[in-house]
Amino acid sequence: MRLWYSPASPFVRKVLVLAHETGLSDRLTKIEASTSAVARNEELVRDNPSGKIPALVLDDGTVLFDSRVICAYVDSLHGGEKLTPAGKDVAAYRAMTLEALGDAVMDAAVLTRYEQALRPEDKRWDQWGSGQMAKVASSLDDLEARWMDLLEGPLTTGAISVGCALGYLDFRFPDLDWRDGRAKLAAWYATFAERPSMQATLP
Ligand code: BEZ
Repeated sequence: MRLWYSPASPFVRKVLVLAHETGLSDRLTKIEASTSAVARNEELVRDNPSGKIPALVLDDGTVLFDSRVICAYVDSLHGGEKLTPAGKDVAAYRAMTLEALGDAVMDAAVLTRYEQALRPEDKRWDQWGSGQMAKVASSLDDLEARWMDLLEGPLTTGAISVGCALGYLDFRFPDLDWRDGRAKLAAWYATFAERPSMQATLP
């Protein structure tokens, strides 16, 4: 399988961490996608019309995206304990929501990063950037207040998503003191970040 990827993308990292955790890393052939919000990669767009990474091209040519779909698919390929919830009860939907919450932190952080790194300074809109980072802050507060039970339980794609989101904040926003006032989340991440899957996928 071919994985369109960028080492800096937290969404790609989710897939790589899950593949590492499930022993499937060797099945993924990584293709680095030189792409940005303003410079399309036409070869990638042929596989994934949205132009986004990660995109997974299966051996029969089927293309899967986005990271949630790819993680669910990769998780279906092994016979061990599943990391994506399979049930149809509220607990399963809550576990899916944790993944969505981690992804939402990534979304807002990546958009802010694009604004800061790509948009010409005279065209920047500070309130837009602070609005995105307010989403990051309220999501992290929610993780601290309501999600530690799931984060501290068996490994799930939700925990992987949150771990990769926090890793991205440390990577691209080193001055953001996200640990301040969120002691439980910070302690959880300190342990999570030591997992071999996280160490092997550091940007
Ligand atoms: C980054 O450089 O921060 C980045 C690259 C690709 C996707 C998302 C973020």
